Amino acid sequence: SSASSSSVSSRVIFYVLVRLEDVDIPPVGAKDVLVKVLAAPVNPSDMNMIQGTYAILPDLPAVGGNEGVAQVIEVGSQVKSLKAGDWVIPKDAGLGTWRTEAVLAEDDVISLPNDIPLLSAATLGVNPCTAFRMLSDFEDLKPGDSVIQNAANSGVGQAVIQIAAARGINTINVIRDRPEFTQLSDRLMAMGASHVIKEETLRRPEIKELFKTCPKPKLALNGVGGKSATELLRHLQVGGSMVTYGGMSKQPVTVPVSALIFKDVKVRGFWVTQWKRDHSHGKFACF
Ligand SMILES: NC(=O)c1ccc[n+]([C@@H]2O[C@H](COP(=O)([O-])OP(=O)(O)OC[C@H]3O[C@@H](n4cnc5c(N)ncnc54)[C@H](OP(=O)(O)O)[C@@H]3O)[C@@H](O)[C@H]2O)c1
Repeated sequence: SSASSSSVSSRVIFYVLVRLEDVDIPPVGAKDVLVKVLAAPVNPSDMNMIQGTYAILPDLPAVGGNEGVAQVIEVGSQVKSLKAGDWVIPKDAGLGTWRTEAVLAEDDVISLPNDIPLLSAATLGVNPCTAFRMLSDFEDLKPGDSVIQNAANSGVGQAVIQIAAARGINTINVIRDRPEFTQLSDRLMAMGASHVIKEETLRRPEIKELFKTCPKPKLALNGVGGKSATELLRHLQVGGSMVTYGGMSKQPVTVPVSALIFKDVKVRGFWVTQWKRDHSHGKFACF
């Protein structure tokens, strides 16, 4: 667009260009594998990377996409851990999965069983790992304990619901209101959600009814920020933790002074990419 008026002329306008290109595939080196990408999702962090707001940014031009599943087509002469036909996922962010084929280093990928659903394989490395670690690393959750989360219908939120249910942990799942609220609520309940409530309900007296049968949460998982995060904090147990992993509202997290003084809540953050880098020596596994 043209910056014709003085009010816009001082702004920096960023043009984001993502386009399909044909590129030559390099020869397969001794420790490389040639892979065919079977499926790769578009995650919010991919968009943040393109916008230039993510914590890691590749040198340009770059191939987008941080996760996905690929099939090994050919292996280099010194490759030990992989063979043709294996399914692999990226070990780290920034691999550039939005492409049809690639030559990758053997060490840049992890193999996984190829008898799981393709879409599960393509989305295994980020959201379920994030959910699993957040349910494991911040509070000692026992069967019967509760977790509260916003953006409960997100990829991370749905993984939280299923992993928590498998461990006997109650989930209080907060979603934004919508015309099809009941259908979405039913779907999350079928996955194992204990309660599904609207953002507005968090501020209403009827929330007290819920806590007559469900213990106050030890852990709050915040993928939204802003008012939504503040509301989660209000319902946390004394000494509980709120873990922020996303900021979908693009609003900062405000912590009431009373939550710190009278409830001594712990306000923490989690980034799965850092977790993987910190735990990547030896055999990598999130679980
Ligand atoms: N820290 C980490 O390691 C880590 C790992 C994985 C993901 N993440 C982050 O977690 C977040 C969710 O990722 P995902 O892949 O699970 O997302 P997703 O499946 O695309 O779902 C997006 C979620 O965000 C909600 N949302 C969107 N805009 C919103 C707004 N303005 N206010 C409130 N809620 C809003 C959506 O709710 P509606 O349905 O109501 O629109 C939906 O629940 C992202 O910020 C992502 O970057 C972080």
